[in-house]
Amino acid sequence: MVIKSVNLETVCGITSVLPENDKSEIAFAGKSNVGKSSLINALMNRKSLARTSSLPGKTQTINFYNINDTLYFVDLPGYGFAKVSVSAKEKWGKMTEKYLKTSTQLKVIFLLLDIRRDPSENDKNMYEWVIYQGFHPIIIATKLDKINRSQKDKQLKIIREGLQALPGTQIFPFSALTKQGRDEIWDCIEDVCGLKEAVEE
Ligand code: GTP
Ligand code: MG
Repeated sequence: MVIKSVNLETVCGITSVLPENDKSEIAFAGKSNVGKSSLINALMNRKSLARTSSLPGKTQTINFYNINDTLYFVDLPGYGFAKVSVSAKEKWGKMTEKYLKTSTQLKVIFLLLDIRRDPSENDKNMYEWVIYQGFHPIIIATKLDKINRSQKDKQLKIIREGLQALPGTQIFPFSALTKQGRDEIWDCIEDVCGLKEAVEE
């Protein structure tokens, strides 16, 4: 997709009312620090519109980015961040859960995992919960630049097996540094949102 405009349109904290958007929404979920905001920037061709940090727990609100007035990217707070108090964690969890449960425009949930790591209990729970909500999560294995090319297939297998991913589940390796995987992910988003231009006969 050619990016013509991106705009952080809505920011939802724990007391906010969620927006009732009328365009497709694409959500990005995953552990804190896995690279959700970095992926969103790469997809939007922006360096730092979505705020990122080397410290986990950067995104603490649900952020809706309007892309070309055509769809929304939804940046979710990460889970599994130990330094956040239990009550704050519960509130963010509830907020995210409420969004994922009630959005009428949510077309796909991308679940991000670090390509170097075994899926955590939180990752597995999230994966199962998303399926329980009736979605087929698409996996993005982030930080591809951190491993050797020869390790890639082995790590993807570890993630697939660790999550007990349903047969046919797509897994996209991605690097925010090299932008490897970006085009494939956009292709997938256009597919899910029905934005593929009709090929002329
Ligand atoms: P929270 O908002 O805390 O949930 O984190 P997040 O998932 O949004 O992660 P964020 O995009 O803020 O990235 C966390 C850190 O990982 C930052 O220091 C990024 O620069 C780094 N990072 C993200 N993606 C990549 C990647 O593909 N490669 C490398 N090398 N670093 C990455
Ligand atoms: Mg973030």
